[in-house]
Amino acid sequence: MKMHHFTRKWRERTGSPRARKHFLSAAEEDKRKEIVTIGFDSVRVLIVDDELSVRKMLAVMLTQGGVKCSHVSTPEEALDKLQNESFDAVISDLRMGPTSGMDLLEKLHSGYPDVAFLMATGVADVRVGVQAMKQGADDYLLKPFDMDVVLASLGRALQRKQLEREVQNYRKHLESMVAERTQQLEIAMSQLERSYSATLEALGSAIDLRDSATAGHARRVLWYSIKLANTLGGLEDQLKNIAMGACLHDIGKLATPDGILLKPGALSDQERKVMQRHVVIGYDLVKGIPFLAEAAEIILAHHERWDGSGYPRGLRGDEIPLSARIFAVADTLDAITSDRPYRAALPFSAARDVITRESGKLFDSVVADAFLGIPEESWASISTEAATRVISSVFALSDQSLASTPGFHLPLCFPRLHATPERRDA
Ligand SMILES: [Fe+2]
Repeated sequence: MKMHHFTRKWRERTGSPRARKHFLSAAEEDKRKEIVTIGFDSVRVLIVDDELSVRKMLAVMLTQGGVKCSHVSTPEEALDKLQNESFDAVISDLRMGPTSGMDLLEKLHSGYPDVAFLMATGVADVRVGVQAMKQGADDYLLKPFDMDVVLASLGRALQRKQLEREVQNYRKHLESMVAERTQQLEIAMSQLERSYSATLEALGSAIDLRDSATAGHARRVLWYSIKLANTLGGLEDQLKNIAMGACLHDIGKLATPDGILLKPGALSDQERKVMQRHVVIGYDLVKGIPFLAEAAEIILAHHERWDGSGYPRGLRGDEIPLSARIFAVADTLDAITSDRPYRAALPFSAARDVITRESGKLFDSVVADAFLGIPEESWASISTEAATRVISSVFALSDQSLASTPGFHLPLCFPRLHATPERRDA
């Protein structure tokens, strides 16, 4: 809004600043300053009053202040006019025959929130005017109108509306900025997780190269574990940890001496102790990596057994993390159904027999029952697919069920290597 000629008119009516000082109180002077800082040149006001004389008088007042005015006699006409024309403010009479300015206020407040509303009322209706303000009016004007008061009130109302628009715009800008930053953060997280995935893939490959006895083993136990976890249910938020733990469960073998890891024939007791240290070494390797902290529990406990006969801590029953109890069944399933130098892979029915026999002894019976409830054909299918499944992003699905996500693939943790001799770490 531009500065208008109100300043000149004000001076014509009040004289010089020194003269004004004599008859203007401090409050009035403040109000004048407020008025003259607002330009009304581009302001459009709609006057609503059922008395033509009042409308015309108010229109003349406002026009002298530089305001462009239109006037109508009923709220209905006002709403029609608002549909077709743009106004900055409405000055409405409170009582207009059968209809009330309060009705117009209600419609204006909901339909035209950017339009300022001043309620005009008689002295006897001051309480109603206050009530109007409580219901959304920006101010109320007492009849008979005083030009200075009307312009001051209009100026304040327009300023308030302008401030509301600025706040609204700022809020929208903030929301937009937050959404943009959130998207950037999600992209960055996605890139970071892909980086993690690549790191895991490299680690997995390194493990497999160290111990060719388990070629393809980690990929299969990973998928077997996921299948069991999904069957047990309620572990959707643990799938990522289970997948990573299965993928890296033997990472500690990177520190096992070749003479022991690759030794043909039986290990001595001392050599077996060295071999068994791979769970603690693996745990120590990854426990400090935040996103692998829970997977580290599987690495540490993947040789624990339900009856306490496992290592390294000899945990029993529920002391063993559920993810590790799941892995134990998956690990045994793969050990039995994989080729060995001294025998060909046994059928899944053989694994079924062993797991049935050891349920409640080596294995958690709940996990064993979940395994036994899945058809052998399903396990065979998972075994076949495990070799060709490739990663899309295991981390992007950390809070989702892998099984229910079409097209999901876990990382290519281990390249396919040769058939292997017997495992040495059990
Ligand atoms: Fe192991």
